[in-house]
Amino acid sequence: MSRASAVVKVAVRSASTSAAQGTRYAVPAAVAAGVGVAAYIAGSVVPAQSESNVFSSLKDIGARLSTIEEALGINFQGALDQVKANRKSHPNNLSCKHFDFDYFNSLTISQKKQLLAIAQSGIDNADSGLGAYAMNPSDYDEFGAYLDPIIRDYHKKPAGQNHVNDWSLKGVEGLPADGKLDLTKLGLPALSMRVRVGRNLADFPLPGAMTKQDRINMEEKMRAAFAILISKFGGRYNSLTPGSPDFINDDEYKALVKAHVMFKDMAADPYLASAGIASDWPYGRGCYQSADKQFIIWVGEEDHLRIMCMKKGAILNEVFDRLKSALDTVESIDGLKFAHSDKYGYVTSCPTNLGTGMRASVHIQIPKLTSDGTDAKAKAVCKPLGLSVRGTGGEHTPIGKDGTCDISPSSRFCITEAEIITALYNGLKLLKAKEDKA
Ligand code: ARG
Repeated sequence: MSRASAVVKVAVRSASTSAAQGTRYAVPAAVAAGVGVAAYIAGSVVPAQSESNVFSSLKDIGARLSTIEEALGINFQGALDQVKANRKSHPNNLSCKHFDFDYFNSLTISQKKQLLAIAQSGIDNADSGLGAYAMNPSDYDEFGAYLDPIIRDYHKKPAGQNHVNDWSLKGVEGLPADGKLDLTKLGLPALSMRVRVGRNLADFPLPGAMTKQDRINMEEKMRAAFAILISKFGGRYNSLTPGSPDFINDDEYKALVKAHVMFKDMAADPYLASAGIASDWPYGRGCYQSADKQFIIWVGEEDHLRIMCMKKGAILNEVFDRLKSALDTVESIDGLKFAHSDKYGYVTSCPTNLGTGMRASVHIQIPKLTSDGTDAKAKAVCKPLGLSVRGTGGEHTPIGKDGTCDISPSSRFCITEAEIITALYNGLKLLKAKEDKA
């Protein structure tokens, strides 16, 4: 037997031993087949004296390969192990639940890196409900094999059903005959009403993948757009970017956060931080507010733009119609093109917001359903009504001491904008009945 084939023989046996022990590196098939052994060993002198000698050499090569992969940032084993662990501990974490290892292994190194960047938040935060954020608008197509099942599972919509945007209330089921979504007709007082949509500019990466310079450039592009909005709706743009002509200081910023006009430092949100969305704070962050304070655009939060209208009142159509016309103005500004997909509608960082990107909400007092000081009962009652409950300070914040909750329809995808606002109205009718009876 030649020296080389002796090495191959022991290498084949070592390979099966190492696989059985769960060692990271098995001998490649080419080596096992006796091809290219010399190339694989690549310079190491491996005397074919004993099996343990070869085994320890292979282990050494494996360790060195690990070091190289680590240095190149292409050692994926830790992340893959975490996916497996999360699947066991949190079966409802959709980013881990739908992680297909065969699909992952079929990807190129660069695609693997991209896929893990998308799944990172759910890998780091086992308790994620969804746990994935797109890094580029094209991810929804390029990594559709991974993201589409997640999207369908989360939104409970069958594969192949495409999103259609439509703001027209005409013919929407459940709309009152006069087309007016009047809360006083439900016996409710004037409430703080808010409708927002998430939008992303087609010519930038999504926030998780933006460089600091991208964030600055995106804000700069929007500053030009805000000049047009200011000429139409008055108001001003407030920037957190050091050196910006619209810079506001920390006290001014804090006052805007307190007034629910500006968003909080996202680094406090572990889901966003893991996704890279909170990076480079406070560069490229800011907000436009119209003169009447009812039309606001956040820049550089979870999506490039969060465009919203808010008002205290009783006619939901007022915030809905106002947002539509404000959006039309924003969309007509030269050079502003929103990322949109034929399949998924408006493209957002988080797949939970795809489609309309819309959340329509009111702040409503439901003291009986929150009598224990928590939102637990309200959530249980709202879920079958298709409504989500949040705190008054936004997602992951506590409810108000007086039992005030933020209530909004949960659906965003494969539902029209007009259906969402109608769903809020009809959901509030049912919620009021539950509160009255509680
Ligand atoms: N990534 C978090 C999770 O999966 C939040 C998802 C929904 N919220 C959001 N702001 N996108 O639980």
